[in-house]
Amino acid sequence: MCGQCHTRGKSKDGNFFFPVSYKPGKNLEDHFDEIKPDYIQNSSHWWGNGRERKRHQEYFAWKQGGHANSLKSFTEGYDGKYGELTNDCLVCHAATAAMKGKGAGVGLGDVEHGITCAVCHYSHGDLDEPRLGCDSCHSKGAYFHHPTRNEGHIPCPSSANVQCVNCHMPLTGKNGGEYALHSHTPGIVQPKDTAEFGVPSSCANGECHQDRDVEWLQGTYEVHYGVGDVVPPETAS
Ligand code: HEC
Ligand code: HEC
Ligand code: HEC
Ligand code: HEC
Ligand code: HEC
Repeated sequence: MCGQCHTRGKSKDGNFFFPVSYKPGKNLEDHFDEIKPDYIQNSSHWWGNGRERKRHQEYFAWKQGGHANSLKSFTEGYDGKYGELTNDCLVCHAATAAMKGKGAGVGLGDVEHGITCAVCHYSHGDLDEPRLGCDSCHSKGAYFHHPTRNEGHIPCPSSANVQCVNCHMPLTGKNGGEYALHSHTPGIVQPKDTAEFGVPSSCANGECHQDRDVEWLQGTYEVHYGVGDVVPPETAS
């Protein structure tokens, strides 16, 4: 629904830059060819690491992240490791349940989507106010199912008042000449990506660590978080 405007591309007949034949509830991809990142090099719309360079691209960015799959990842192939699937699980994993809240009795048959735009944003007015903040689901910190991993997760001193969004939705998109738009793929941009593509990293972002060079930032990152890419929860030790 939101993706019909918050993405870029061409209608299937190639004539329009908006999805002319799309109706809410249908599959946008059947009506629209989106401009996608190629994950190798920068393009005018995307950084080579798959992050947004321009505005109106939140939809494709979101689809690349875990929030888009938060319903699928626990219904498809779930092995029972965190207990039985109940309506209470859905309050963090599915849009309709998250918006209605605990106790509303929303069950598996009533939900279709993971954490959509409308979970975090109001859709009628108040667009600049959050609907649900990160801590409504990440209430124990980053990890809910592996709380011990929350230790040392944020090395910055509390005086820096750094929030989830500062690191996990870094400002990578230019608007009005400034990096003012938040990446909608939830996750970290490491300083080594700045070296490779020029994309602002999660560490030197907004008001944070702008005085440091890439080598210092990447070195410090590795001291705190280790080397390599983020380990997905199912394979982390
Ligand atoms: C008909 C096109 C259209 C649709 C559909 C649409 N938007 Fe937008 N939205 C816009 C435009 C245009 C802007 C202005 C900002 C810009 O130019 O980037 C905007 C801005 C926003 C902003 C920023 C507002 C601010 O004050 O900072 C948010 C958040 C937003 N939209 C969320 C949504 C969500 C959530 C949905 C789905 C429920 C949605 N939009 C559907 C066109 C649309
Ligand atoms: C409605 C509940 C909910 C809200 C609100 C929410 N999250 Fe999440 N988040 C989840 C769930 C559930 C997952 C796990 C998805 C999965 O792997 O199935 C997740 C996963 C993540 C991940 C891992 C992403 C990935 O691609 O693997 C990050 C990072 C994250 N959230 C950050 C945030 C930030 C930042 C905010 C606030 C802007 C936020 N979350 C708001 C429920 C939520
Ligand atoms: C308070 C919010 C919340 C509730 C309630 C919740 N989850 Fe999660 N879930 C998360 C978050 C946050 C993540 C990603 C980070 C992590 O692993 O803790 C996640 C990730 C997952 C994942 C994918 C990642 C992985 O480790 O495989 C599965 C599967 C999952 N949850 C199943 C469940 C089940 C089953 C329930 C109910 C028994 C449940 N969740 C209840 C917040 C929640
Ligand atoms: C100082 C920056 C910083 C802040 C602030 C921060 N994180 Fe993280 N987070 C990281 C880094 C770096 C990683 C990747 C390294 C790792 O996996 O330990 C990570 C990993 C994660 C993961 C698991 C990795 C994944 O993508 O599956 C989740 C979920 C997460 N953070 C959520 C949150 C939430 C929610 C908040 C706010 C309560 C938050 N983080 C605050 C830096 C931060
Ligand atoms: C996990 C929560 C979350 C989800 C899901 C989410 N957003 Fe956002 N969005 C945010 C946050 C946080 C901001 C920054 C708000 C602020 O600074 O006040 C933001 C900002 C925006 C903005 C303003 C420009 C900017 O980058 O600051 C637009 C437009 C927007 N979102 C559209 C969307 C659309 C469209 C979707 C679905 C494809 C979506 N969002 C999904 C949390 C989310």
